[in-house]
Amino acid sequence: MELCKISGSTAFQSGRLPKHSVIRMTGTEFRPQNRMFIAGMGFVGQRLGRELKNQGWDVSGTCTSINKKKKLEEERSFQIYLFDANEPDVIILDAIKNHTHMVVSIPPVPGIGDPMLHYEQILRTELVGGKLQWLGYLSSTSVYGDTGGAWVDEDYIPNPTSESGRLRLAAEEGWFNFSQSLGISTQVFRLGGIYGPGRSAVDTIVKQGVLSESQRMRGHKRFTSRVSVDDICQAIMASICTPSSSRRRVYNIVDDDPAPREEVFEYARDLVEKKWPGWIKQPSEQKESLVIANKRGLRGEKRASNARMKNELGVRLLHPSYRSGLQSIIEQMDSPFEHGKLNS
Ligand SMILES: NC(=O)c1ccc[n+]([C@@H]2O[C@H](COP(=O)([O-])OP(=O)(O)OC[C@H]3O[C@@H](n4cnc5c(N)ncnc54)[C@H](OP(=O)(O)O)[C@@H]3O)[C@@H](O)[C@H]2O)c1
Repeated sequence: MELCKISGSTAFQSGRLPKHSVIRMTGTEFRPQNRMFIAGMGFVGQRLGRELKNQGWDVSGTCTSINKKKKLEEERSFQIYLFDANEPDVIILDAIKNHTHMVVSIPPVPGIGDPMLHYEQILRTELVGGKLQWLGYLSSTSVYGDTGGAWVDEDYIPNPTSESGRLRLAAEEGWFNFSQSLGISTQVFRLGGIYGPGRSAVDTIVKQGVLSESQRMRGHKRFTSRVSVDDICQAIMASICTPSSSRRRVYNIVDDDPAPREEVFEYARDLVEKKWPGWIKQPSEQKESLVIANKRGLRGEKRASNARMKNELGVRLLHPSYRSGLQSIIEQMDSPFEHGKLNS
């Protein structure tokens, strides 16, 4: 794999490489024969697929509904296969073998585990002698469990406290073992809370003005690690391009600023109030509720370190904090007064 590091603040927003990216400077490009299969064309999958397509990759992927398949094929020119863990059509397992890279973005399902590894034997038979050389699994910082707010890096022994965290950890191990047996290089990305255009505190405030009771109750944590979707894509692409001495590696993909949810929402609300005064109807009640929710007790949690991502993958975060991330989101938004509720 040729060296093709990417950095710069505009690469993933404009869909073009930044002027001074290493790719431009060295003249090294992603090779056109690279083919990515993204299992789970959701929020991250679509964004990653779009960036790779912009760089000349062939991109295929999966989703669960025929309507979404049509939309992604017509509007985004991806080749899409239907795959639903509950009614699986294993024909997609055959399609994967013609791809050089795969990102698994489908969450584990209770009672099934990882939906693709559920068909591990078939998948293994399909992939032996195939083209797949790199696999990325999108996991979660939930695998660490509760450290009482202490910092954790990738060497910390995971101790998930939730069922979803336990399923995640099992899926990580499952993919490592699977690809090791086939000699495929595998990276696990433990993602913090994902946000980006269309899915952020600013979008929530603009759409509904105030938080619902259940949303407020989720604000108990002192620290929540977050990451913008653009930084996730940047890290995955850097990982593809960075030769690793190890065939299996774990990376925390988070920003520098684990912060309480209510702090993030207050900041988002202030941004919306400043940009569109009068749009939020009940700012004072909202603030009061957040204080009450905060007093009800703090739950232990962890702060995930991103040092390995920066040191080994050379990632320079586009959004080191939710502040710049939310600012860039609101800058790209149209006025809700003109267009009704955004992204509804
Ligand atoms: N949201 C967060 O803050 C967060 C934090 C850490 C890790 N993660 C994990 O990181 C990954 C990417 O996140 P994301 O926000 O991009 O997720 P997302 O938008 O929810 O996308 C998930 C994808 O998986 C597919 N999928 C879901 N359940 C499935 C099933 N039972 N069978 C087959 N396919 C299924 C979805 O299909 P459709 O396209 O048809 O819906 C979608 O394409 C996910 O695994 C997510 O759980 C998320």
